Amino acid sequence: MDTVDNILLYTENVSKNFQGIKAVNNVNFKIYKNEIRALIGPNGAGKTTFVSLLCGRINATAGRVVFCGEDISNLPVFERISNGIGYTFQITSIFFNLTVYENVALAIKKDSTNREENSVSEVLNKVGLLDRIEQRSGDLSYGHQRLLELAMGMAQKPKLLILDEPTQGLSDSEIENFKKLIKDISSSTTILLIEHNMDVVMSIADNISVLHFGEIIADGDKETIQNDPIVQKAYLGD
Ligand SMILES: Nc1ncnc2c1ncn2[C@@H]1O[C@H](COP(=O)(O)OP(=O)(O)OP(=O)(O)O)[C@@H](O)[C@H]1O
Ligand SMILES: [Mg+2]
Repeated sequence: MDTVDNILLYTENVSKNFQGIKAVNNVNFKIYKNEIRALIGPNGAGKTTFVSLLCGRINATAGRVVFCGEDISNLPVFERISNGIGYTFQITSIFFNLTVYENVALAIKKDSTNREENSVSEVLNKVGLLDRIEQRSGDLSYGHQRLLELAMGMAQKPKLLILDEPTQGLSDSEIENFKKLIKDISSSTTILLIEHNMDVVMSIADNISVLHFGEIIADGDKETIQNDPIVQKAYLGD
């Protein structure tokens, strides 16, 4: 299982300090091809900071990030995207004044060609927004805006798709739809999902990593994590 070929991305002693706060502290993390990995942990644990180090939004204070066998620690965001790391973030990042189509096309960052039109339609169809392709993004419901963000992340056909709290603020039925969608996407993309909703984690994740005060305190399958006394103490609260 733990062969080099199976590993899509790993970090070596990666750390990020913010004015003395060790937001991420010496993290050694591995994600395998084709898994859905949940990253959980209390508020302020360092989850967003950690995935920001993977996609290049911020640079590490120390340590390395290796993706597909290449050290990408010093690559800027756009190069990591073209290498195959896609992401959507906690804070909505769509352009409200642009249409649904334009937002996805921008995420692909190509000229307006037929090929682009096809891929935009394809991802919008997957997330169920094809009939809103000409709509102004700011006029979409909140749930549809989150789906648009997902479409923007998928549009680059990433090898690794990082989702930071994608279900936050969604209704129960939207969450059910989201779970199916992620399962569907995961047949072609490895997923790293930051998620507070434990029902979502338990129903779609293959494995879970738990971050606490900037450190990974547990890694494993769902049962291992649920029964881990350190995790229960630190996070699950029982
Ligand atoms: N740009 C920044 N400057 C200074 N401190 C920061 C910055 N970003 C994050 N931090 C601090 O780093 C720590 C980790 O924050 P982070 O946002 O990564 O946590 P999180 O696990 O994503 O939390 P949440 O579940 O609330 O989203 C916190 O103490 C936070 O205040
Ligand atoms: Mg966060």
